[in-house]
Amino acid sequence: MARPPLAIYIHWPFCRSKCPYCDFNSHVRERVDERVWTSALLADLGRQAALVPGHEVVSIFFGGGTPSLMPPDTAAALIERVRRHWPAAQDLEITLEANPNSAEAERFSRFAAAGVNRLSLGVQALDPAALRFLGRGHDRDEAIAAIELSHELFPRSSFDVIYARPGQSLAAWRAELDEALALAGEHLSLYQLTIEPGTAFHTRAERGDLTVPDEEHAAALFEATQERLAAHGMPAYEVSNHARPGAECRHNLVYWRYQDYLGIGPGAHGRIARDGTRYATRHRRLPEAWVGKPEFEEVLPVARESAVEEMLMMGLRLAEGVSRARLEALAGRSVEELFGGALPRLVDGGFLALDDARLAATAAGRQRLNAVLAALLG
Ligand SMILES: C[S@@+](CC[C@H](N)C(=O)[O-])C[C@H]1O[C@@H](n2cnc3c(N)ncnc32)[C@H](O)[C@@H]1O
Ligand code: SF4
Repeated sequence: MARPPLAIYIHWPFCRSKCPYCDFNSHVRERVDERVWTSALLADLGRQAALVPGHEVVSIFFGGGTPSLMPPDTAAALIERVRRHWPAAQDLEITLEANPNSAEAERFSRFAAAGVNRLSLGVQALDPAALRFLGRGHDRDEAIAAIELSHELFPRSSFDVIYARPGQSLAAWRAELDEALALAGEHLSLYQLTIEPGTAFHTRAERGDLTVPDEEHAAALFEATQERLAAHGMPAYEVSNHARPGAECRHNLVYWRYQDYLGIGPGAHGRIARDGTRYATRHRRLPEAWVGKPEFEEVLPVARESAVEEMLMMGLRLAEGVSRARLEALAGRSVEELFGGALPRLVDGGFLALDDARLAATAAGRQRLNAVLAALLG
């Protein structure tokens, strides 16, 4: 039997400064004891290796926070340890999220030497005023230089851009998107700005001095994005992710296909199947809390109904949708029985597509995924 695929997420929770829109588990600290962090991450990996022996590792993803601030030797040690614990896929994907500051770009070659073969750059905007608005520590020229360097040093790379920013017109976004496409390799992540509770933007929005585009304008920006990228040969394979066919991020595909992954480091989540049951694992979120107590904070079996929900919430993000056979095996019922009258209504409305093999959200459905899920699961 084929070995089950496994993805490994490793969280580095530190950043140089906190961006005003960001609610990720990222923290600014004056000093980080890199030796302590390296050994804690290696120990976490070792403990979790015992849970899923014999899987085939298809991806390692260093996320954050800002993992490009991590010592490259730490990344090398973690990669080496993963290879010791599991057989690795021939085309093992090893991604590092990086900020495009020139200081960090100087270290990119050391990450490439450590084994990183895919760089994901947090460019966020190519417009200088937007970069200032987003509180980024880099300017436009640094972003462009970092993208160019990523093409030289890494076989695969991608960058993130945030759109639907306050006051952003359709024409301005189209122009920025064209610039991004001219710089891009085979993958781009394009996120609509969301205002998350607990962020500086949230406080400003509550005060009324920050307004994001209304639903209609946001929809127009989303549609323009879909069209432009598809015309460029990089269709959306997920709500916010675009790639040439074959260049999709394999790591994120593991999440969205609801396969097994380990979460290493503070706040990291995992999902693993053992003896027919899926388990959800969770670590303490605060860096100091985790490093002091790096064993799981929680390991819970996922009830069948919740697993069905999770598979749908993940899978309907993807253009390919979810496998009907897998969903029905998990649910113990047919898709028609599972969703009743909501299903034909959503199919007739043009939000879902269903055939013998797959249930998928259409582009219109992916744009309103929360409403589609609420209708299906409600
Ligand atoms: C963990 S961060 C990326 C890594 C790196 N720290 C950076 O900022 O360059 C993941 C990505 O999520 C996106 N993101 C974070 N908060 C967002 C928000 N409120 N709205 C839209 N996109 C957001 C950004 O594009 C960001 O690059
Ligand atoms: S967007 Fe990136 S750099 Fe900014 S606070 Fe979040 S994780 Fe850190």
